[in-house]
Amino acid sequence: MNWLHPDHRADRLAQAAADWRFPADTIYLNHGSFGPAPRSVRQARQQWQERQDEQPMQFYVRELEPAWLSAREKLATWIGARADDVAFVENATYGMNVVAQSVALEPGDEVLLNNHEYGAVRRIWRRACDQQGARLVEATLPLQVETADDLLAPLWSAVTERTRVIVISHITSATAITMPVEAIVRQAHERGILVCIDGPHAVAQLSLNLSALDADFYTASCHKWLCAPLGTGFLHVAARHHATIRPALLSWGRLLPNMPERWDEQFRWTGTRDYSPYLAVPAAIEFLESFGVEAFREATHAMARATRRELISLLQQPALVPDDPAWYGCMTEVWLPSGDWSDLQQWLRHEEGIEVPIIALEDRWAVRVSCHLYTRPLHVERLLRGLRRALDRVSRMV
Ligand SMILES: Cc1ncc(COP(=O)(O)O)c(C=O)c1O
Repeated sequence: MNWLHPDHRADRLAQAAADWRFPADTIYLNHGSFGPAPRSVRQARQQWQERQDEQPMQFYVRELEPAWLSAREKLATWIGARADDVAFVENATYGMNVVAQSVALEPGDEVLLNNHEYGAVRRIWRRACDQQGARLVEATLPLQVETADDLLAPLWSAVTERTRVIVISHITSATAITMPVEAIVRQAHERGILVCIDGPHAVAQLSLNLSALDADFYTASCHKWLCAPLGTGFLHVAARHHATIRPALLSWGRLLPNMPERWDEQFRWTGTRDYSPYLAVPAAIEFLESFGVEAFREATHAMARATRRELISLLQQPALVPDDPAWYGCMTEVWLPSGDWSDLQQWLRHEEGIEVPIIALEDRWAVRVSCHLYTRPLHVERLLRGLRRALDRVSRMV
């Protein structure tokens, strides 16, 4: 098998991989759902947690807010944003709830999603629409694309004069496709439509410049590709909407005697809880920077690309997107042959120790493989072996 890692990188990749620890019986190919943090990030989080637990008065009253601001500053620089436009929230789900509860809709207004969107996001906007008499509209985009226009044309044809918000993933979960969000934001704004981007897969997979992108709202989780601890998300709000933002969960916002005045201050104190994950976000950025962010993207895309090539060849299926980093980064998805593959995810775990999502897409199934710095050719070879066995098993049953 011809894997694309240049040899001179193998040592550095092996060194980076040593920062993760997986159980011996597990091949982990689902960083896209739950991205485990490397050792340095776990340690940074533990150190903050110990400070918090040892002397809570010192931590909560004197240290937390400056540390929150400093972690936010580092994150804002990393995502190309002004710190004042960013607030930490628990995860993308939380951020999406904030947006859906903050945007005022009139009866008859429409919120436009599409068939690639994340199920929880659909539920969040359905409730917001129902509460205000608005309509949730779902554009049907193709599952296999050749050009950006294949996605843009059906999206725009679902827009009406009542469309108030477009909600779109930066990188989709169900299909692992990088959406042409720059064009969507530009054209939506020309029509006076707000854009809310669901970005958890884009953080680290893509180089972000949220100020330049100028979406109205952008929400993401840092626990996926950035490898920050679980429970680290952010919400980016364009300055023109700061005044309308309402936290989904109301607390003090800031510790007494300070009262929140600006939108982001509402998110600093959300009740007595563990704030250590946010404060370890800088350690996650530093971890990727120490490997080299571009080198990380290049190495993991090369692995995803080689994986995709092998899967397409084994499964004999057409590609979902063109073979280009503009369409996919370190996560790739390939169709399975037609048939019922509903038990495959569990079978691969049981038979080969592989954790990989098998995703239902309309009446088909697909396998989605995530490649991070710890992903080795050997892991993908095991997946190929497992899939070969599964295909043989099915052909014997027919
Ligand atoms: C596209 C997309 N949106 C939203 C989410 C929700 O992210 P979280 O569970 O971190 O809130 C996910 C999680 O996988 C996702 O893939």
